[in-house]
Amino acid sequence: MPRVFSGIQPTGELHLGNLLGAVRNWVDDQHRADSFYCVVDLHALTVPKAPGEVAARTLELAQVLIACGLDPEVCTLFVQSHVRAHTELAWMLQCIASVGELRRMTQFKDKSARNEFVSAGLLTYPVLQAADILLYDTDEVPVGDDQRQHLELTRDVAERFNARYGDTFVVPRATIPRAGARVMDLQLPGDKMSKSAASDTGTVYLTEDLSAVAKKFKRAVTDSDGEVRYDPAAKPGVSNLLSILGAATGRDPEEVAGAYTQYGPLKADTAEAVVELLRPIQARVGELRADPGATTALLARGAAKAESVAEDVLARATSAIGLLPRA
Ligand code: AMP
Ligand code: TRP
Repeated sequence: MPRVFSGIQPTGELHLGNLLGAVRNWVDDQHRADSFYCVVDLHALTVPKAPGEVAARTLELAQVLIACGLDPEVCTLFVQSHVRAHTELAWMLQCIASVGELRRMTQFKDKSARNEFVSAGLLTYPVLQAADILLYDTDEVPVGDDQRQHLELTRDVAERFNARYGDTFVVPRATIPRAGARVMDLQLPGDKMSKSAASDTGTVYLTEDLSAVAKKFKRAVTDSDGEVRYDPAAKPGVSNLLSILGAATGRDPEEVAGAYTQYGPLKADTAEAVVELLRPIQARVGELRADPGATTALLARGAAKAESVAEDVLARATSAIGLLPRA
C-alpha cells in the first residue's frame, strides 16, 4: 500500500476549493493507501495569531475534516504540534535547504510582499512542510496545484540529504487532481477561490448557510457571449461553474457543458449540487461541535500513531547525519 501524507492549515474556514481541490481526494485515498492527514498548526504561526485562536481553529478544522469524510478509524488524523519530530527534523532540513531556493518560492514572494512584518518562519515554511512529508516515508502527497513548487522543494531537499548522508528518505511525489484541481472565485474567476479574497461574495464556505451558498452561485460572474463551453482561458466564469458541477457530480467539465445551452440552468444546477454536497457535512459538524472531547480523543490517538512512525524516521536521519547518540 502506498503511503499518503497531506497537511492543511488551521487558518480561516474551509471553502469549496479546499474540499474539491484537496480534502475530497484525501477521503478517497484513505481507502486505498496508508494515509496520514495533519492539521499543521505550526505552519499557521508564520503569520501572527492571538493566543487561543490557533487551538480553537485547530479543533474546528479537525471537526470539519471528519465531517467531510475523513475517518480516524481508517486514516491517521493528527495535529502537527503534537508530534515533536516535525520541528526537530525541520531544523536538520533547514541546514540542507538554501536561502536562495526558499526566497524563490512564489508563496513566500506573495506573502512577504503583502505583510509588513516578515517572519523567518515565513521563509522556512516549506522546510517544515518537507519535514512533515519526509517523516512518514511518504510516496504521494495529494495537494492543490498551488503546492506544486513546495513539493518540488521537498523532493530536492530529500535528494540532497540522501546524496550527502546516504539513502535515508523516500522521495515523494505530488498527486494533483484534475477535475476541481483549481476552483476559482465566483466573482473574480481569474483568481483562485480563497479565504483571503477581498470580498466574500466569490468564496463558498463549507459551513456557510445553504441559502447564502445558493445565492452566491446565482450571482456568479459569467460572460456576455451566451455560449456554454468549457474554455478556462476565454470563459473563466462559465468554465469554473462547469468544473465545480462536474466535480460535485463526478463528470468531466466538457461532458457537463454538453448538457446546457443557457447560463441560468447551469447556475441553478451548480448551486443545487453544491448545496446537496454540503448539507450532510454541515449536519455532521453540528454533532461533532456538541461533543468536543470526542474529537480531541481521536486526535490524541492519531498523534500516538503518527509519532510511532515519525520517531523511527527521525532516528534514521539523526544517525545518518552522525549526531552523538544520548547514552
Ligand atoms: P489553503 O487554504 O491555501 O491552506 O489550502 C489548503 C489545501 O486546499 C491545499 O492543498 C490547497 O492546494 C487547496 N486549495 C486551496 N484553495 C484552492 C482552490 N481554490 N482550488 C483548489 N484547491 C485549493
Ligand atoms: N503548505 C500547505 C498549504 O498551504 C500545507 C501543508 C503543510 C502541507 N505541510 C504539508 C501540505 C505537508 C501537504 C503536505 O496548503
